[in-house]
Amino acid sequence: MRRLTPVLFLFLVACGKGEEENLPPRLAVSTPAPTPAEYSSGEELFNGNCSTCHGLQAAGTQQGPPLVHMIYETNHHADASFYRAAQVGVRAHHWSFGNMAPVPTVTQDDVRQIISYVRWLQREAGIF
Ligand code: HEC
Repeated sequence: MRRLTPVLFLFLVACGKGEEENLPPRLAVSTPAPTPAEYSSGEELFNGNCSTCHGLQAAGTQQGPPLVHMIYETNHHADASFYRAAQVGVRAHHWSFGNMAPVPTVTQDDVRQIISYVRWLQREAGIF
């Protein structure tokens, strides 16, 4: 599955072409390096619980913003905002996707692993 992720990502980008104007502003995420083993459980948890809205590799979809984005770097959105988002949801304030509902399927420890994965993606993209 991990091997397939970059391929799936390119596939989604290619398929989204016609709807480009509806997509959120996103960073040009160059095909990220293969996910290091230490982040692979975070990637699985992210793909299973967050990627329907935040996109594979957190690149965003029409349902939710990219988390690989300047506004989600550590100074503006510290790790606490991830725990809070999963636990109580998010009231829309940065974008026009609507509110994020809580994600009760993830534990605190799951979110911890998701954060490690997303921070790695952000570092790969040169965000911090
Ligand atoms: C049903 C769609 C959906 C799912 C699933 C989802 N999110 Fe979100 N999320 C959103 C939307 C939409 C926003 C943006 C709200 C706004 O306008 O600021 C958001 C915002 C966030 C934010 C920013 C919080 C803030 O304080 O601004 C974080 C962090 C986040 N999501 C993490 C996650 C994580 C982690 C998961 C998986 C456990 C997840 N989201 C699953 C839709 C979703």
